[in-house]
Amino acid sequence: MELNIALLRGDGIGPEIVDSAAAVLEKTASEFGHRIYFTPYLIGGAAINAVGKPLPQETVDGCLASDSVLLGAVGGPEWDDLPGDRRPEKALLGIRAALGLYTNLRPAKLYPSLRSASPLRDEIVGSGFDIMIVRELTGGIYFGERGYREGRFGREAFDTEAYSVTEIERIGRIAFETAMKRGRRLCSIDKANVLETSRLWRKTMHTIAEEYPEVEYSDMFVDNAAMQLVRCPGQFDVIVTSNMFGDILSDETSQITGSIGMLASASLGEGKRGMYEPIHGSAPDIAGQDKANPIAAILSGAMMLRYSFGLSEEAERIEKAVDKVLEEGWRTADIIGNSEGAPLTCTKMTEKIIEVI
Ligand code: IPM
Ligand code: MG
Repeated sequence: MELNIALLRGDGIGPEIVDSAAAVLEKTASEFGHRIYFTPYLIGGAAINAVGKPLPQETVDGCLASDSVLLGAVGGPEWDDLPGDRRPEKALLGIRAALGLYTNLRPAKLYPSLRSASPLRDEIVGSGFDIMIVRELTGGIYFGERGYREGRFGREAFDTEAYSVTEIERIGRIAFETAMKRGRRLCSIDKANVLETSRLWRKTMHTIAEEYPEVEYSDMFVDNAAMQLVRCPGQFDVIVTSNMFGDILSDETSQITGSIGMLASASLGEGKRGMYEPIHGSAPDIAGQDKANPIAAILSGAMMLRYSFGLSEEAERIEKAVDKVLEEGWRTADIIGNSEGAPLTCTKMTEKIIEVI
């Protein structure tokens, strides 16, 4: 198979981890007789510095012409004072919208070998957890009308949350289908006791639930969900939620696995093309020091093989290599906990994984 992949390295640790993931993909492709071509494009702060805008048209066109996209991370203190529409983060929203990627899959499981890195006590973690967050990615308050106006207390800023039945239905169906392939339990998270959008969300989810009698469906308010995730994470299988709630809950979920440096994500639309990225940010404090954990990016590469190219065996080869390296006790600084020995650099961790592949 021939794979044309756009690389959006971005800012901070983005370039290091994307290069790691690309190296792992290249090794895997060659092991299985595939040909893989990478084309880098500018995004985020790096693009602002080079061409004056966070999402150049060339990047959008390049991604649209590729089979799939691998992204590092965007943003950093250097660009924090720019107005909202010129910030690096705007590029991320822009590329998600331009590629029509309305589904964001964020799997979070506890690796037995990283048990000690989780901040949760043994009796809470129980036999572990394996959660898939299905986050709506191109709607809600992230994309609603925003601006400034005169309000009751003078000039005010506003952002709007809006969801149509169509948007809720399409993400809902993906979530039910995802649940069917896993533990057949789905929890939809909203704030239907306050928000009109959430009431429509809940009503629409209930309608779809009737089509999936095999799925054990439940609803939960987002405040309660934030609590339940740290009280008893094992109760969740698949979670479906709006753009902003998904953003917040996925960070919380990643932290209880031990490290945000471990979690991959897939952003998908109607076609095969997706965008794959770690859920962590650009970590400017450790950028360029070869300290970053490349595993989230590497596992994002595995998700790409599975979801965009249907190469499950290849994806598993990568996932198993990561498991093995962790079981052997190799750790980057973020997951070292109180293990003995010095942490591996980003480069060394990548080499270890490639060796196993
Ligand atoms: C994420 C990030 C982004 C988001 C930011 C950087 C715009 O936090 O992918 O979770 O909020 O979607
Ligand atoms: Mg986030």
